Amino acid sequence: MNLTLKIWRQKGANDKGRMVDYKVTDISEHMSFLEMMDVLNEQLINRGEEPVAFDHDCREGICGMCSMYINGEAHGPDRGVTTCQLHMRMFKDGDTITIEPWRAAAFPVIKDLVVDRTSFERIQQAGGYISVNTSGNTTDANSILIPKEDADKAMDAATCIGCGACVATCKNSSAMLFVGAKVSQYALLPQGQVEATERVKNMVAQMDLEGFGNCTNTGACEIECPKGISLENIARMNTEFLKASLKG
Ligand code: SF4
Ligand code: FES
Repeated sequence: MNLTLKIWRQKGANDKGRMVDYKVTDISEHMSFLEMMDVLNEQLINRGEEPVAFDHDCREGICGMCSMYINGEAHGPDRGVTTCQLHMRMFKDGDTITIEPWRAAAFPVIKDLVVDRTSFERIQQAGGYISVNTSGNTTDANSILIPKEDADKAMDAATCIGCGACVATCKNSSAMLFVGAKVSQYALLPQGQVEATERVKNMVAQMDLEGFGNCTNTGACEIECPKGISLENIARMNTEFLKASLKG
């Protein structure tokens, strides 16, 4: 395949940035989207030009690093996959592909397609954990019985990889699907109850502090989420928040 790529280039946080057109040739339909980007960067380096900066790590849908807006969709046109799992067979020879970074005030661009998502880490640090006594008297996890349905829902929520596609997709740049998933994975389990009140209050407060918008129930986040995180998690977070607020 031969393709035209329209890519957002931005030297740094203070650079205005602009779209730049590139041609890439001899792209196999079996390549992943990131492998296609590697081919482009090889061609740019061989020509003595600056390669395109983009984030990636695991390249197997686990780390959530490969944040990219492709043809106006977070993680591109396929469903249930991250950019690193997106295959070039989703495109046709001669296509023009537009590639942009996530757009949200709380995810400022560092360079080209790389954005700063440490706001997510600060939300996690505010309450996305449980405190466990590791003194040697730790209770065996299997000794606490958990209904299968709750365990499954907690596990589903825990599959959130913190990629930020939900924020990038939302017209309000809301992080509620991400925070809802993180709150839910603990709220559904007995181990999460001890710090439940403080957790939801602190995580929501940090989310607001970081400048994420509010949820207006559009549902775009659920559709673009590569891990299929359900809107049900936002509803659960709202319930948890209400319960915590009533406790004072
Ligand atoms: S909820 Fe989905 S889209 Fe949002 S950060 Fe988690 S995995 Fe990514
Ligand atoms: S590079 Fe890790 S999820 Fe894509």
